Amino acid sequence: MPSHDFDYDLVVRGATLAGPAEVFEGDVGVRDGVIAALGRGLRRGREEIDAKGMIVTPGGLDPHCHIEEPSEGGGVQEESFSSGSAAALAGGTTSFICFVPQWKGHPIAATAEGYEARARASRADYSFHQIITDPTPDVLDREVPALVARGIRSLKVFLTYDPLRLTDGQFLDVLATARRLGAFVTVHCENYDAIGWRIRALLEAGLTDPLQHAWARPPVVEREATHRAIALAELVDQPIQVFHVSCDEAAEEIARARARGIKVWGETCPQYLTLSTDDLGKPDFEGAKVVCSPALRAPGESERIWARIREGTLDVVSSDHCGFSFATAKRDPGSSGYGQGGAGARPDGMPAFNAIPNGVPGIETRLPVLFSEGVSAGRIDLPTFVRLTSTNAARLFGLAGRKGTLAPGADADLVLWNPDAERVLTNADLHHAIDYTPWEGMRLKGLPTLTIRRGEIAVRDGQVLAEPGSGRFLARGPYALATPSGRVPDGFDAAASRRG
Ligand code: URP
Ligand code: ZN
Ligand code: ZN
Repeated sequence: MPSHDFDYDLVVRGATLAGPAEVFEGDVGVRDGVIAALGRGLRRGREEIDAKGMIVTPGGLDPHCHIEEPSEGGGVQEESFSSGSAAALAGGTTSFICFVPQWKGHPIAATAEGYEARARASRADYSFHQIITDPTPDVLDREVPALVARGIRSLKVFLTYDPLRLTDGQFLDVLATARRLGAFVTVHCENYDAIGWRIRALLEAGLTDPLQHAWARPPVVEREATHRAIALAELVDQPIQVFHVSCDEAAEEIARARARGIKVWGETCPQYLTLSTDDLGKPDFEGAKVVCSPALRAPGESERIWARIREGTLDVVSSDHCGFSFATAKRDPGSSGYGQGGAGARPDGMPAFNAIPNGVPGIETRLPVLFSEGVSAGRIDLPTFVRLTSTNAARLFGLAGRKGTLAPGADADLVLWNPDAERVLTNADLHHAIDYTPWEGMRLKGLPTLTIRRGEIAVRDGQVLAEPGSGRFLARGPYALATPSGRVPDGFDAAASRRG
């Protein structure tokens, strides 16, 4: 409660405030961890921050990151909840959604309890998507409803990867369950059989370099699976989000479906906006640092992804942070998960491209890279940056009004940006537990200087002040297009109903 002398616990004064729809000059008044007022000339706060010349955005919400995830092969991602959340906060991300694994042949409970316990070490606010790899009747009819009731309202499925992928029939079962329960579904879209076929052909030809990861997974395998996922979602009338769209071909499928009124959303990541097969083709196995799926695309293709952002087809930019070090990539025989096609080795002893664990670290760099390459470079405006990095994810994942916005009543998650500050990115300055960043040496313009999480200063000038365990679990409501009960309205997709 405010004392007699102060109206607010904290006032951030005289900033350029950037929300999801507008930019204006003003102050933010914070009380009890939430935004109490926005305006000019707010009365006194117990603590005051002079933010003249600074931009204030809502704290980032990263709805797709892999932290401390155990794999069925026995590996665990090296990023812990403590280090990953420190990195998130240092990069301006105040909340994230990571993944509870399920292993085939096992109930969700076998992995969930331990994972949720580890997540309590987070310094940032957090929630979970539930990965479904084995949608048995018990999982769908008993375990998933219990999760939804606890506010874990999104299911993640993979259409590829050896131990994880679902058949189309299993995917339909998950979609139908989600529709019944008012849960949301996110999908990794690549064609499993086509990739396996390409991997075999490349290995038989002795082609094993990291660059061949992209040859094994050309855009058409992503386009096909994106089209199929959308078609199956249309059949069930269940909204989905296509994760990590890497190419214009897949984005085009989303745009066409949206034009027909299908409720499909598209996410992309900084790696697909800034890196290319030039990075994957670097000598001395350096390309292994950027092996991710879908694969990086040809130089210049990323401008088409930026264009898909501007037209609104891709409306979330997540990190898809994956905590494998380069040292692990060099020796890992595919045990860390997120791989396909066996554990081949090369004559130099390094793993073949298909045995390198997939994924890049980027939870700390997501916002600064997007700010620099997007806002400072003139590709997107500030409200678009805010929508991409927090607001749209909050709407899809049941956190609207609480996260991702500058409005009274929202959590006081704020990032102060110095739009003129410049820095050359180097891994030594980052807080994650990974031994490299794919953006080493990139010059950034526009940097986060202060991160506030629920009204508390979590990071100041690169120093993380938030303690492990100070993050809160976010029980989430239904996504924004559901009815208040969380159900998708019947006849929601009128076109599908007519055809039905
Ligand atoms: O290569 C990637 N994206 N690794 C993380 C797992 C996934 O597919 O999201
Ligand atoms: Zn994926
Ligand atoms: Zn991922």
